[in-house]
This record gives sequence, C-alpha cells and structure tokens, in this order.
Amino acid sequence: MNFEEFTFDSVSQAARKFGTPLYFYDMGVLGCNIDKLKQATKGFKIRYAVKTNPNPFLLNWLKDHIDSLDVSSSGELKHAIGNGWSSDKIEFTGPAKRDSDLVLALENNVGSVVIEDLSEAISLNDIAREKGVIARVLIRIAPSLAEENFGVRLAGRPTQFGIDQDRLSEVFAEVKKLKHVELAGFHIYSGSQCLNDESIADHFVSMWSVFQEAIQLWGEPINELVFGAGMGIPYHDGDTSLTLDSLPDVASKIIEDVKKISSDIECFIEVGRFLVGSAGLFVTEVVRVKKSRNSNFVICDGGMNNNLGACGHLGGISHRHYSMINLNSLGGEEETYRVVGPLCTAIDTLAHRVKLPKVSVGDLIVVGCSGSYGPTASPLFFIAHDLPKEVVFSRERESTGELKDVSWLKPSFS
Ligand SMILES: Cc1ncc(COP(=O)(O)O)c(C=O)c1O
Repeated sequence: MNFEEFTFDSVSQAARKFGTPLYFYDMGVLGCNIDKLKQATKGFKIRYAVKTNPNPFLLNWLKDHIDSLDVSSSGELKHAIGNGWSSDKIEFTGPAKRDSDLVLALENNVGSVVIEDLSEAISLNDIAREKGVIARVLIRIAPSLAEENFGVRLAGRPTQFGIDQDRLSEVFAEVKKLKHVELAGFHIYSGSQCLNDESIADHFVSMWSVFQEAIQLWGEPINELVFGAGMGIPYHDGDTSLTLDSLPDVASKIIEDVKKISSDIECFIEVGRFLVGSAGLFVTEVVRVKKSRNSNFVICDGGMNNNLGACGHLGGISHRHYSMINLNSLGGEEETYRVVGPLCTAIDTLAHRVKLPKVSVGDLIVVGCSGSYGPTASPLFFIAHDLPKEVVFSRERESTGELKDVSWLKPSFS
C-alpha cells in the first residue's frame, strides 16, 4: 500500500477539523484509478458496484466519470435513484430478490435485472405479465472453472450466485418460454481480490470464452455482456498494486471479437474496490496505550465497529493486518504493537502484531485501502460508539486542496 499518494497534512487536518474515527476519501486517487481502468479497457464501459461504497457524495461524483451501476437490494436501488442516477443505467443483482424487489425494479424501469436462478426468471415473468411489461434481464453465469490467484473465488464450486455454466442449455430452454422476459445478455462476477496482472487478463479471456459458449447456446441476438473483473487492491504490507499492463491487448481483442458478432453488443467491466478502495483511508485516534503480559496494546477510538474488513472479518478470517502508519510518528525506532478498537470483544483487533514507530495517546493511526466495504459493511451500532465521519479531499492542480464533510449515516442511539 502506497501511503505516499496521500497528503498527510490534509489527513491530520481532517481529523482535527471533523474528529475521529474518520474515513478520508481522496478524489484525486479515485480519479487516477478510474483513468487507469479506462486506459486498460478501451471499448468497455465501467459499472460500479454500489455495495462497495454507497456514500452519496461519491455516487453523485461517479455519475460524471463512469457509465453505470450495479445495485443488490431495493435499498441500494432507491439510494442510487435518489442520488441522481437514471434507472436505465442500473442493473439489479442479488440472490434473494423478493417479489417486492422485482416489482420495484420493474416499476423503476431498471436497465436490467440480473437473473440468479431460473425460479427468479419465472417470478419476474409473472410480475411483468401482470404489469403488462417486458423485463430486460441478464443471466448471471456461475463458471465451471475457477481462476488462479483470486483471493475470493466463487467459480467451480457450489454457489448461490448465478446459474451453473453446465446447466445453461436446460435453463435457456425454459427462459425462452417466458414471454415477458427479454434476455439482453450475460453477466459474470465469479471472484475478486486478484493482485496478479496476468491472472486478471486470463480471467477476461475465460469470461469471454464462457460468454461465447452462452451466446452460441442462446442462439438469438443479445446486446450486453458484463465482465466482473475481480481486481484487487494492496491491503497488506508487501502487496503490490495491479499495473493492468497485461489487459489492454486482451481487452481490445475481446472488443474486436464481440463486434464481429454484433456491433450492438455493449461490454461492461464491473468493479468495486479497485476504484474506491485504495482511494480511502481509515483514521482512528489512540485513546490508550497499555502493556499486558509483555504485549504493547494501542487502543483506538474506532476498530471493527467501523472497519470490519480491516479487522479481518470480511470474507473469511485473516490475521494479516491492513497496512497502517502512525501519522504522528513516521520515523524512528519501531516497537511491536497490538492495535485494537474500542469494542468489548477481543476480535476487535486491527493488527495482532505490527511494527510502528513509538505510539502515544492522541496519535492518529491511519489504515490504508479502506475506501471500500467500510462503514456500511461494518457493525456500526454494536456498542453504540460514535459513527465514523466521512470526509472527501479534492485538490485542483496547484491548490492546497479542500476538505468536505460528506458523512451521511445516522446514529440509531440518542
Ligand atoms: C455482483 C457484484 N459485482 C461487483 C462486485 C464488486 O466486487 P469488487 O469490489 O471485488 O470489485 C461485487 C462484490 O461483492 C458483486 O457482488
């Protein structure tokens, strides 16, 4: 994780001005991530998964910088529309869409409903028939072959997400009978947190081959393909960021091949953490430093309650801590610390063993790669500590930059 991309003065200024715990989003870093992705995937449109970070300021800003959204609940759908996104730019995924969710999707004319099971297509067809409309759908395919080097893997194993690749022809035969469902294309999101450039490129190639098989089996025109990219971010010390250097050739070849089938097919790359994750920091202040049985404890005002992922509890349990620094002491002799949050549970641990220059009460511990799966993916209300602030930092060329409080989550205790 490269903390150098951030202006440390603005991080400490944000903490002083707005208080801690705090999320700090650097719009410059976010913009660079988008540019990097666009450069590597020319011809693809970008789709952002709202679950990654639904902060309203970010969602509004993204409207002018990317093409479309993926939502996975009625709540996210209403939130996206409420924040100015036009519903035809929104796809609705999720394995547990209830009839009420499908009704909402149709009433709002979403761009597409992503079908995760045949029974869902049948329910949607029934609802669409009652309403006298045609539902535009994508079929989510659960590929048979898993990728190498993906931290999160869904392919090649039993999954609640999508329709198994080896059942496609059987399912297609049934979908063809549904007169109120129009199949617009296919969707794959089958893995994530990959930090290997070659494997990301291989993943695109294998998604394209699954799509080609599906297009052939379906046998009728389609106009949308969604490639869930699975790009990872360097959460841990020693991780290196993706360069995306292996992607441009692969991406342009896919676009070329797609256009040979039909110039009406649009390709989307669906991402989350790669855009916002590395653009965000989590900042927490040290409340106590104490020793217990030869371990040095650093006790902070925010931990698992604000940043579940950084405590290793999102997508499995990991004891590798996210990269972190002590903003008040960037050099000097290091000691080994256990960095914990404020909760009354030992699993509220940001780092079991981390070497940091001497830590004192009042110091700011800054955790990297925290812009994704942060506040809304954490048990914010457990033990009713203050909610984290969310602050964006934007800097025009040559200027010192501007901090803006974009907090939006409401405390539930009063
Ligand atoms: C359907 C779908 N698309 C995209 C994403 C974003 O994933 P990532 O943050 O790994 O890019 C997710 C995350 O769970 C997802 O479920």
